[in-house]
Amino acid sequence: MPILEVNNVCKKFGEIVALSGVDFKVDEGEFVYITGPSGAGKTTLLRCIIRQLLPDSGEIILDGVDVAKLPKKEIPRLRQKIGVVFQDFKVLPERTVEENVEVALAVIGLERSHWKARVDHVLRLVGLFERLGLFPSQLSGGELQRLSLARALVINPKIILADEPTGNLDWETADKIIELFNLINKEGKTIIVATHNMQIIKKYKKRVIELKNGTVVRDSAVQSGSVADESSQNNSTTDVLPNDYISDIPVPPQEIVDIDGPKKKNKKKKVKK
Ligand SMILES: Nc1ncnc2c1ncn2[C@@H]1O[C@H](COP(=O)(O)OP(=O)(O)OP(=O)(O)O)[C@@H](O)[C@H]1O
Ligand SMILES: [Mg+2]
Repeated sequence: MPILEVNNVCKKFGEIVALSGVDFKVDEGEFVYITGPSGAGKTTLLRCIIRQLLPDSGEIILDGVDVAKLPKKEIPRLRQKIGVVFQDFKVLPERTVEENVEVALAVIGLERSHWKARVDHVLRLVGLFERLGLFPSQLSGGELQRLSLARALVINPKIILADEPTGNLDWETADKIIELFNLINKEGKTIIVATHNMQIIKKYKKRVIELKNGTVVRDSAVQSGSVADESSQNNSTTDVLPNDYISDIPVPPQEIVDIDGPKKKNKKKKVKK
């Protein structure tokens, strides 16, 4: 059963057509690249999926829920299912690495007694455990990207959306980030990565959906009928997300902060230590 269905989605900004009849489905556990030239509509599509933007027409069904029709008060519940690694999803500069991850748990209203185990777990997973007391300004670009991924993962989402997660990184660092996505995917998470990086796409052969002028011009799953997966360098059987990690997250009582809230609102959430 698909975890995501994008059915004939159209989105214009004034006269600019960003998405025009975009159609595809993603099954649970898939790893999909969304690629295409600058301005093709990749970010717009991801923003529609997380309900940062509303499509003009068409529907987006995420985990059985019609995203565009969702009442506002249900948006937090939707966002709990989605781990977002966007370039403009800025880390909070005045918070340590550990606190930045904790904020994600505070936002979803998880009881504080569960925080430490989860935060330590994801920081170990992304290789930032040794850096947990540092501030974002003390991290490298790759480490910052890993921090974004840790924040996305800590809420135990069903699906992870990443927009150019290797954007400003050198090849080696970019490669490590994608390896990490790969590892997480092997543990069953659905991953959608928007990227221009052809080196990455060639190395980790996954399903590729290519957009051009807001339209899907290629979908490797449709072309070949099956998607090759050569991402076998990493045969790790590490229990990335152990069973005790997957607990029911309570729905937060208040509206969740907007996904790019820290940038727009500059709100300081108190995270007591
Ligand atoms: N908020 C906006 N207002 C007006 N036009 C927009 C807005 N957001 C996107 N667009 C336009 O929609 C089109 C698609 O933009 P989008 O950001 O989705 O492309 P993209 O594929 O992510 O490009 P890139 O690879 O450069 O990130 C572009 O022509 C862009 O100018
Ligand atoms: Mg973009």
